[in-house]
Amino acid sequence: MMKADELVLSDVHLYSDNRPQDKLVSIVACVTASDEVKSQLKVVQSHFVFKLPGMQQYNDNALERKELSYDDDGDLLVKREESDEKEVMLLNHFLCTPLDLVGLQVWSGALLLSDYLLCYGHKILNEHHVLELGAGSGLCSIIAGMFSSCVFCTDFVDNVLEFSQNNVEMNKHLLGYFQRSNSICEKSCPVIVKRFDWTKHECEINLEDPWGWTMQEKDDLKKVNVILAADVIYDDNLTDAFFETVIRLMLQPPSKVLYISLEKRINFSLDVMDVACPAYTHFYQYLQNLPLHSGHQDWDVQQVPTFFPQLFHYKRTPQLELWRVEALLSK
Ligand SMILES: C[S@@+](CC[C@H](N)C(=O)[O-])C[C@H]1O[C@@H](n2cnc3c(N)ncnc32)[C@H](O)[C@@H]1O
Repeated sequence: MMKADELVLSDVHLYSDNRPQDKLVSIVACVTASDEVKSQLKVVQSHFVFKLPGMQQYNDNALERKELSYDDDGDLLVKREESDEKEVMLLNHFLCTPLDLVGLQVWSGALLLSDYLLCYGHKILNEHHVLELGAGSGLCSIIAGMFSSCVFCTDFVDNVLEFSQNNVEMNKHLLGYFQRSNSICEKSCPVIVKRFDWTKHECEINLEDPWGWTMQEKDDLKKVNVILAADVIYDDNLTDAFFETVIRLMLQPPSKVLYISLEKRINFSLDVMDVACPAYTHFYQYLQNLPLHSGHQDWDVQQVPTFFPQLFHYKRTPQLELWRVEALLSK
């Protein structure tokens, strides 16, 4: 069991160019932690360079020979290759934090999910309403904002929400990058940072909270059909609250798909005197026993193979997993 003041660190920054951000040091002063912990907190600005996915590669010869493959929905399977074109995302983040502020760091799960979104965003995000839960630095929401017209980038801690908002603003050049039609670019910024705490039953309309929802935003939240979550599985109580929230959202029309990435963290457990990954085991059991409700036929739960191209720099280990979950609603 970790103590509240113990520091945790993600190794993601090892693969990017980080510059200390003296002008952000004042933010550390606002963080709720002991002075000793605060003295160890460092804020950096990292340049996350990523390759752009290649243009759709329809192989002409294959077209002539009718050697085409289709997915389960009957859509043509498009071979995507990497291009030499690169883009940069700038993110302000911490290099280490106490457990309650892990959202101020960037985690590998966000890079895995972002790779997947970059490779398949044209199919799974375009013209959809997207909700990211536990967004932290906002990395995945910004990538989703390259394709979608409306992305709710949500978290629950003030400091984290401030960082996400700032990061979204620093990356305006990426938003709308891949949008096909002009009609969906009416909003000045497709990524909207909001408070969404999974332990509360509702995200409230609160015009006094800078991260509270307006009536219009709550209406738009009802249109969400893609839910994203990266690296939110590390504490069993939070996992339960996360799934309760997701289930509540997914059982309401329109039908929704959840893409969740996570890192299987293997530790030595004194309980079983062996190596174990308890947070993953809890997640896996929850996933295998998702409850059925009226108006709802079944769950479609699939682990997504992680063979898609790696466009960001990080270590894609076998412990990094991606899952797709869909509630099959009765007609
Ligand atoms: C390990 S961080 C992952 C952040 C980001 N998705 C990433 O992968 O870089 C877990 C995130 O879950 C958020 N979180 C934890 N408990 C939450 C709750 N009850 N409601 C909403 N978000 C929560 C944290 O604030 C943090 O941003």
